[in-house]
Amino acid sequence: MLRILITAGATREPLDPVRYISNRSSGKMGYALVRAAKKRGLFVTLITGPADILPPKTNKIIHIETALEMKRAVMKHICQNDIFIMCAAVADYRAATYSRKKIKHHNKEWVLRLIRNPDILKSTFSYAPHIYRVGFALETHAPYENAKQKLKSKKLDMIVLNCISKKNKVLGLDVSQASFLMANGAKEELPMMTKNKLAQILIDRILKNRDQDDF
Ligand code: CTP
Repeated sequence: MLRILITAGATREPLDPVRYISNRSSGKMGYALVRAAKKRGLFVTLITGPADILPPKTNKIIHIETALEMKRAVMKHICQNDIFIMCAAVADYRAATYSRKKIKHHNKEWVLRLIRNPDILKSTFSYAPHIYRVGFALETHAPYENAKQKLKSKKLDMIVLNCISKKNKVLGLDVSQASFLMANGAKEELPMMTKNKLAQILIDRILKNRDQDDF
């Protein structure tokens, strides 16, 4: 039985007990991928951050909150899998210091120092180079250049490009327009469709590519 590891949702980076930095990821695309992979008979492990909806039924589920927790969970589980899809929207930065006490608003300004979170997807290559690895790229400008650069620098087999525009808002919606870029230079542009349909096409494409590439 083929095994797939999927990450979904956002990460939350706490500032104090009541505040955090995060992003608009709803979890819908990642959860649609879980359902599509289950439909194809794969053993699915889901690592999920906070999301707007409840996660679907899956073989194994790990809940995390921060990027560092997500990295630990990915590194713990990735080697037991054949395919890895990093769909989660990881916060690129976290607060340099966490305040155990609620931060009070004494001053007119609050200058927040942030430090970089690790690039989880990138660090999985040296750890698990034999696994078919897929990333997502969410771009507002120079989409193809940026996505190609991510495909190369993160040493992926495939990247799913979502261009955010007025017509394609992606985040939080049930529909999306995406393109698949493959490591061998192949490109497939898909029309706007539901995230469920897109997830089915993506899982089928990954299974086909794995067969062709002799994984
Ligand atoms: N990603 C990751 N770890 C991070 C940031 C991103 O694993 N710290 C993954 C995402 O899950 C996605 C891919 O890398 O699969 C691309 O994420 P994206 O946010 O589009 O790009 P970044 O690499 O963060 O670059 P930038 O924010 O500069 O566009």
